[in-house]
Amino acid sequence: MRRNIVLIGMMGAGKTAIGAELARRLGRPFWDTDSEIERAAAMTIPEIFARDGEDFFRARESEVLSRVLASGSSIVSTGGGSWIREQNRQRIAQHGVSVWLDCDAETLWHRVRARPTRPLLQTVDPRGTLERLLAERSPIYASADLRVTATRADSIEDTTNRVLDSI
Ligand code: S3P
Repeated sequence: MRRNIVLIGMMGAGKTAIGAELARRLGRPFWDTDSEIERAAAMTIPEIFARDGEDFFRARESEVLSRVLASGSSIVSTGGGSWIREQNRQRIAQHGVSVWLDCDAETLWHRVRARPTRPLLQTVDPRGTLERLLAERSPIYASADLRVTATRADSIEDTTNRVLDSI
């Protein structure tokens, strides 16, 4: 069974767009864990956070991740918090190669501001919260197998090419 390619990194890094493009180019199945969680729950992520809380969401996220990894040979885009849980990192390491889409704060902010769907950024200072999460999480993201930089100036095609060159 070929290994999964698992994209990790902050919200707004482009995991979903790059993952879909990778899957298209490689002719492999594509899974976006956030979309799978929403589909299974028949609720949006903000609704899940509001009704059941973050811990409930994280439990569903780990379940969905295990399920899609088991299918093998896939491209998997994860939510920004997935890699932060050790059990998820271990599961990904067992079943695939992890690729950190490393993106600067300016680019992330530009993208997430356009789509205000992230419950963790529903704070009085969303930009400050984003920068704090980036600072806290970057050392953990850095333990991924591979790191590909993805800034605002890069097209989806360019970043996808860099991922393909790195694996
Ligand atoms: C989260 C990122 C989101 C989603 C949830 C929590 C996070 O996914 O899973 O809002 O903890 O960073 P994206 O990275 O696809 O935005």
